[in-house]
Amino acid sequence: MFDLDNIRENFPILKTQMSGQPLIYFDNAATTLKPLGVIREVERILSTQSVNIHRGDYQLSYEISNQYEEVRNTVAKFINAKSDEIVFTSGATEGLNFIAYGLEYLIEEGDVILTTHTDHASNLLPWFEVAKRKKAKIEYFKLTSEGRIDLTHLDKQIHSKVKVVTLVHVSNVLGYINPVKEIIELAHQKDICVVLDGAQSVAHLSIDVKELDVDFLAWSGHKMCSPTGIGVLYGKKAWLDKLRSIKLGGGANAVFDENGSYELKSSPARFEAGTPAIESTIALKAAIDFLSSIGMDQIHTYEMMLKDYFISKIQHFSHLKVYNLTTDTGIVIFNIDGIFAQDAAAYLSSKGIAVRAGNHCAKLIHHVIGVTETLRASFYLYNTVSEVDVLVETLKEITLEKCVDLYI
Ligand code: ALA
Repeated sequence: MFDLDNIRENFPILKTQMSGQPLIYFDNAATTLKPLGVIREVERILSTQSVNIHRGDYQLSYEISNQYEEVRNTVAKFINAKSDEIVFTSGATEGLNFIAYGLEYLIEEGDVILTTHTDHASNLLPWFEVAKRKKAKIEYFKLTSEGRIDLTHLDKQIHSKVKVVTLVHVSNVLGYINPVKEIIELAHQKDICVVLDGAQSVAHLSIDVKELDVDFLAWSGHKMCSPTGIGVLYGKKAWLDKLRSIKLGGGANAVFDENGSYELKSSPARFEAGTPAIESTIALKAAIDFLSSIGMDQIHTYEMMLKDYFISKIQHFSHLKVYNLTTDTGIVIFNIDGIFAQDAAAYLSSKGIAVRAGNHCAKLIHHVIGVTETLRASFYLYNTVSEVDVLVETLKEITLEKCVDLYI
C-alpha cells in the first residue's frame, strides 16, 4: 500500500534543513535518500559483524557470508533472475566497464557497437575505448525529433555488422523508457548481444530480465535507497561464462602458481575479486525489501503523478522551457530564459530545493535537445505534491537579479 506519511517517516533526512529551509530533495536520478531499515542495517553490521566474508573460518564470518549471499537471492528474485547470474560490483559504472572490456576480445575490426546519443558516459566511454583498440565503429540509433529511438527503420539500424547493442534503459536526462523489448527481439534474431544500462530503470520500474530476454543489465544500489559502493551486474549465465574478468585478485581465483598461470572460479565469484562493500551489499537487501513492500508499479505510478502535476503547472510559464514534456518517468528537464542552469540551481538551493544542473554526465545530449545544460528535477516515492508546489512557486518568481543577488 502507498502510505506516503509512513514512507516519509522512514527517511530521517527529510526532517533536516538545507540553507535554513526544509529540505526538498528532487535530485533522485543522481542518488536517492536512505530509509531507516538501510541505515540500521549498516549500523548493525558495523557495530556487531564487521568481519570479512568468504575468508574467515569462524562463526562471525560464516554468519556475515551467509547474509551476503542471501542478498544475491533477493536481488535475483527482484529482477526474476537466478542467483548465479548476479554479480556484485561497486555500481553501474563498474558493471558497464566489466561488460565492455570483458567482451572486447570478441570485437573485431569493422564491427559496430550500436548505442544512443542519450547514453551516459559510463556506457559510452568504455565502448569508445574498446572501439579504438579494436578498430570497431560506434553507431547511434536514429532518434525522433522528440529524442526517442526511431522504430521505423530498426531493422536497418541493427544490421549485420552490429556486434553489440548497448543502451540506456531509461535516459537519465530525458526520462524516456527505451523500447528495449523490440530492440532485444530484433538483435537476438541476428545473434547480437544486448546490454542495458539500468541505472534509472531498476529503481523505478518492475523489471523482469527473463521477460525482457536481455543479455546484460547493470545498475547501482545507491539510486534505489541503498548505500553507495554496491551495484549489480546481471548477465545470462551463458554470457557471464563468456565474459572475461578484468578485475583479478583474491576471492576470484581457484588456483595460481609462480609461473603466472592461474584459474578463475566460476561466475559470479570470478568477477568479485577483493573485499567488497559488505555493509552496503547487505543493506541493499533492506532497500529492496523496503521498495518491494511498497511495490515497484505503485512507485512508478506515484512518480508519474508527481511529474504530470509538475509539468501541468510549469509548461505554460513563458520564461521556462521543458525539453521532455512526454517523459515516461519522474525525470523532467527544463531551462529558464536568460538564467544559466547552474545559477538557477544555486538559487533553488537557497530555498531548500535540491535539483541537478548541467549535462548530467550525458555529454552527447546536445545532439538531441540542442543545449548542453539543463535543470533536472527527478522525483521519487517520498516526494510530495506540496514540495512540487514549492518548486513551482520558486520557479514562477525566479529572476536573474535574484540569482545574482546570491553572490553579492
Ligand atoms: N548518473 C547520475 C545522474 O544522472 C549521477 O545524475
